[in-house]
Amino acid sequence: MGLISMGSGAPPVGLDIGTDHVRAAVLKASSSAPTLAAYGRVDMPMGAVVDGEIVDPAAVSSAIRELWRQPGIKGREVLTGVSNQKVVVRLIDLPFMERDELQGAIQYQAQDYIPIPVEDAILDFQIIGDYMTPGDEHMMEVLLVAAQRDTIEATVSAVEGAGLRLSGIDVTSFAIVRSTLGSGLSVLAEEEEGPGEAVAVIHIGSGLTNIAVVEKGVPRFTRASSLSGNQFTQAVANVLNLTFDDAERLKIRAGLPDISAQTHAQPDADDADARMVQTAQDALEREVNKFIAEVRRSLDYYLTQTTQARTIRRIHLTGSSAQLAHMNTYLEKGLQAEVVLSDPLRFVQVGSSARMAAEDDRMGAAPAIGLALGGVM
Ligand SMILES: Nc1ncnc2c1ncn2[C@@H]1O[C@H](COP(=O)(O)OP(=O)(O)OP(=O)(O)O)[C@@H](O)[C@H]1O
Ligand SMILES: [Mg+2]
Repeated sequence: MGLISMGSGAPPVGLDIGTDHVRAAVLKASSSAPTLAAYGRVDMPMGAVVDGEIVDPAAVSSAIRELWRQPGIKGREVLTGVSNQKVVVRLIDLPFMERDELQGAIQYQAQDYIPIPVEDAILDFQIIGDYMTPGDEHMMEVLLVAAQRDTIEATVSAVEGAGLRLSGIDVTSFAIVRSTLGSGLSVLAEEEEGPGEAVAVIHIGSGLTNIAVVEKGVPRFTRASSLSGNQFTQAVANVLNLTFDDAERLKIRAGLPDISAQTHAQPDADDADARMVQTAQDALEREVNKFIAEVRRSLDYYLTQTTQARTIRRIHLTGSSAQLAHMNTYLEKGLQAEVVLSDPLRFVQVGSSARMAAEDDRMGAAPAIGLALGGVM
């Protein structure tokens, strides 16, 4: 940002670029909770974003332009997020040094911790805290973030191609955590976490699932998985030999079977539709079991890395695909944790002009709102 700001001083718009949709949240700072002044969502053309990577920046730019034609979506400065399997977040321990010194040293320290060559990466870090070892060494805990340079460049190009200015890029998972649990070291997380406990936040979209683990109010682990809504739809399409669009409709209509039901109703052999629904449910159940195994691996990995938390008692669930019927029951059972549907509007006041659009997309709104919150807090 320049030294002399010519803008209106309004906080940047939260812009969430996804596989199926692009979304914007406009927040106004206020003395109490920030106010959501406008919210919008438009479709993303198929194939423009794949696995969290922008592969067609021009197509993404035109979707963003269309979004800026929605009521109330205005402002040239945006904050957007990146999330894909090549965005790496690691919690590392380093000998204590001042922030300025770390700024210089991180380039040399980082390679040991990230799977991409440092010269192809854009690095960022946050100092979480410092401590003394039993041997009296002064150490610090640093959250290291690395993203592939190509990912960042494609994002910049898509945003600038829409005539907007990027005021910052965040890790999408951090934004999701912000709208779910509040910012940084909030008291909320303390009340959420008992001793030896961490909290997980899972956002299930279309092309990606974002998993984050929060401990002592700070997101310390994130992972993006491609097991997400599109995979569920594809499984239904494959098993019934349907087009993707037909499978999408059937997926939403069928949902997962109700495992809490005492009896498992067998469909009437003559009822073709009931049989089709059941076949879809069986396919979805298999996908969700794979999904649970994947989340389990991530959470277990976190728990073996950390010396503090031993369990994850509560999982906050968000994302459009979290609406799959009975998803939360499956996750509770499979992950042996309490699963709560999170409300991305929890930390904002919703202005009357934003209400309808935001409530229509309540489960999908967490990243855009969290990104915008990052600009006002
Ligand atoms: N009621 C529903 N039940 C089950 N799945 C649903 C429901 N409504 C939407 N979905 C699924 O949500 C997904 C779209 O989610 P969303 O729009 O949040 O994705 P995105 O943000 O564009 O993608 P990304 O994964 O890149 O973040 C689709 O797979 C769709 O099938
Ligand atoms: Mg998304």
